Amino acid sequence: LDNGLALTPTMGWLHWERFMCNIDCNMDPQNCIREELYMQMADVMVKEGWLEAGYEYVCIDDCWPHHQRDAQGRLQADPKRFPSGIKKLADYVHSRGLKLGIYADVGSMTCGGYPGSLGYYETDAKTFAEWGVDLLKFDGCYMNWTMLGEGYKNMSRALNQTGRSIVYSCEWPLYEWPFHEPNYTAIRETCNHWRNFADVYDSWSSVKTILDWTATNQKILTPAAGPGGWNDPDMLVIGNFGLSHSQQQSQMALWAIMAAPLLMSNDLRDICPKSKELLQNRRIIGISQDPLGKQGYRTGTVDSFEMWERPLSGARLALAILNRQEIGGPRGFPLTLATLPSWQYCNPRCNVTQILPTYQELGVQALFSKQILKINPSGTALLTVTQIQDYSGKGY
Ligand code: GLA
Repeated sequence: LDNGLALTPTMGWLHWERFMCNIDCNMDPQNCIREELYMQMADVMVKEGWLEAGYEYVCIDDCWPHHQRDAQGRLQADPKRFPSGIKKLADYVHSRGLKLGIYADVGSMTCGGYPGSLGYYETDAKTFAEWGVDLLKFDGCYMNWTMLGEGYKNMSRALNQTGRSIVYSCEWPLYEWPFHEPNYTAIRETCNHWRNFADVYDSWSSVKTILDWTATNQKILTPAAGPGGWNDPDMLVIGNFGLSHSQQQSQMALWAIMAAPLLMSNDLRDICPKSKELLQNRRIIGISQDPLGKQGYRTGTVDSFEMWERPLSGARLALAILNRQEIGGPRGFPLTLATLPSWQYCNPRCNVTQILPTYQELGVQALFSKQILKINPSGTALLTVTQIQDYSGKGY
C-alpha cells in the first residue's frame, strides 16, 4: 500500500499468541487483556532497549472492546479493563516514543465474538484516527468470502481519508485461500502487510508448517513483497515455552530472510537473556530491515539441509541453512560458494560473515573453497556474503 508506511517490515509487539483472549482480571491480573498490560510492555520496551533495536509498535489484538457500540455507533473499549480509554493509552504509548496498534474485523464480529466493523468502516476508521492509533490489524472472521476484497479495500480507503498515518495489517489472503488463489496485486495495493496462512502457535511444528507453506507458495508470494507491502507469516514466539534455543534462532533467521514483520508475542517483562539477545541482534535486524526490500526464498534442500537466500542492498546476499534432520547431534554443512544458485555473486570471491549460531567473520572465500558449518538439529546457520569487487570496480 502506497501510504508512505512500512517501507521496511513493521517491528513491534502484539499480544495475541502469548496472552490471547484472557479477560479474567480477577484470576490473572498480570496477564489479562487490560490497559496495564500495554503500559507495562511500553515501559519495558523503552527501558530494556527494544525501541532502540527497532521494535516500535505496541499492538492490541482481539478482546479489547465492549460488547456494545456506544449511542453514536462507535466502538468503545471494555470499561472495566480499559477505564482510561484507548485515547489515553495512545497518549501514554506516544509519550514513550512508541506507536499504538489496535485490532478490528472486516466482518460482523471479531474472531473472539466482539463487534465487527461491517457497516461501520468509516466510523471505526475515524474513531481509531481520533484516538491516535498508528496501526490497524484487520481480521477476516464472520465475513462472506465474496465480499472480503470490497471490505478490505473500503477500510483501506476509510483509513486513508482520516488523514492519519495508520499502518494497515490485513488477513485478506488467509480467508480467501480456501476458495481460490488471492489476487496479490490488489492485496499489495490495499494493505501494508497481510497474513496468508494459519495462526502461529508456540511450537516448532507450527513454525515448520509456516515455513513449508511459504516455500511451497513462494512463486506467488515473493513477487508481492516490497517496500510498503509484506507477506506476514505471523508473530515471533521467541521467548515463550515451545521453542528450543536453536529453534528460536531458526525462527528469527528465517523471518528476517522472509522480510516478515517482526511482531513479537511474548512477555517482555519476563524474558530470558538469550532470547532477548537474539531478538535484539542488530545483524539479523539489519537483514530484516534491508532497504532493498526483497523477500527471500528457499533455493533447495540437500541432505536434509534447507537453503534459503535473500538478496540484500550493496551487492550482498543473506543465506540461511536450516538443519531439518531432527535426530542425532549437530551436523556439518559444507559451504562452497560455487554451489549456490547465485554463485555468480561470489565469482571470484566473497567476504563471508556468519551471524548465527554465533557471530564469526569467515573472511574472504574463493568460489571453490570449503567451510564446514556446524548446525544443530532444527537450528540454522545465518550468513551474509558480500561480493568482492574486481579492480575495475565491478563484480563479475
Ligand atoms: C484470528 C487471527 C489471530 C488473532 C485471533 C483473535 O485467529 O488470525 O491472529 O487475531 O483471530 O481472535
